[in-house]
Amino acid sequence: MATVELTGLTKRFGDATVVRPATLTIADGEFVVLVGPSGCGKSTLLRMIAGLEVPSDGTVAIGGRDVTQAPPANRGVAMVFQSYALYPHLSVADNIAFPLKVARLPKTEIAERVAEAAAMLDLTDLLARKPRALSGGQRQRVSIARAIVRRPQVLLLDEPLSNLDTGLRARMRHEFARLHQQLGMTMIYVTHDQLEAMTLANRIVVMHGGRIEQVGAPLDVYRRPASLAVAAAIGSPGMNLLPATIVGGGADGATVRTNEGAVVQTAAQVPDALIGTAVTLGVRPEHLVPDPTGPFAGAIELFERLGPLSFAHLGRQGAAGTIVAQLPGDRGVTLGEVLPFAVPPADTHLFAPDGRAYPLTPPPSSPVR
Ligand SMILES: Nc1ncnc2c1ncn2[C@@H]1O[C@H](COP(=O)(O)OP(=O)(O)OP(=O)(O)O)[C@@H](O)[C@H]1O
Ligand SMILES: [Mg+2]
Repeated sequence: MATVELTGLTKRFGDATVVRPATLTIADGEFVVLVGPSGCGKSTLLRMIAGLEVPSDGTVAIGGRDVTQAPPANRGVAMVFQSYALYPHLSVADNIAFPLKVARLPKTEIAERVAEAAAMLDLTDLLARKPRALSGGQRQRVSIARAIVRRPQVLLLDEPLSNLDTGLRARMRHEFARLHQQLGMTMIYVTHDQLEAMTLANRIVVMHGGRIEQVGAPLDVYRRPASLAVAAAIGSPGMNLLPATIVGGGADGATVRTNEGAVVQTAAQVPDALIGTAVTLGVRPEHLVPDPTGPFAGAIELFERLGPLSFAHLGRQGAAGTIVAQLPGDRGVTLGEVLPFAVPPADTHLFAPDGRAYPLTPPPSSPVR
């Protein structure tokens, strides 16, 4: 078990800086999930922690020891990749045993550890098979077993489930939660999957353009995205982002008018001097509430029924794109029907021209019962 400390960790490829000075302390036994759009530097950051990529600047310390110059094998880390990278000519048992044989562990200990890792990942009955006779999910379980068999202090996982189908992903997601509980290992996990990020993480790290944009507990990041980039990265379907202008200030929060003319009271704290500033109003689909007098009205262009809830995609006069509203359950609708919505001020987000979120009025503290 170990802490992971990144200090000013930077990666440049030629002229391009793909990881900007990253400083982050990950606690012993913590499960951290890295998210962000394709190309934002997640894999590069992970590979620098693993020792597979040499940092241009900064340091990596694991368990209090500076390992910036240490080879991958001497860092106490193991990495699981999106592609399983198993040896096709070796059995499952030999694939899992491979790192232990390289480390020249005694035969009896190798056998014990392989059996233990196989049991943990439900592979006991498959130990004699070759990788080609396994399903995708089974192959990925073998690569995870191979990673944990050395009992690394830190397990790095780069989109380990992205080649699997939805059902298998859900099962494996539970497996990871269980493994983390059982082994208490520090885990750093890269994913594009919202469910994995929200349910597995102790903390989410959102990256954008090589920069760490925000670090926090999943629900804190979801409720209080610090920037447009974070708002766009967390939540599915994504937050509605509407160009708007500040038209009023005040202690209760700024009033804005969207470019289509909807006047909306927000909870954002904005100095009066900023009246007239072009901003972005953010509203999550589940925060739009049906209201005949609401400022958001649009004609239904698409209605998606998921069973327990539905998403209405509303076209807007004079604007590109749609607003997405979440509705409970299912209902009959006619395409083209106009639905009006309002948003409670406490559920709004407001982003400055540089993308940073304006602070929100703290929610009223709930009454003591
Ligand atoms: N060896 C390399 N040489 C030059 N540029 C590279 C190299 N490796 C990565 N990059 C660039 O660095 C940037 C970050 O890449 P990285 O693989 O870390 O992104 P990522 O966040 O993991 O993306 P994805 O979600 O698509 O996996 C990209 O623009 C990529 O093209
Ligand atoms: Mg990647």
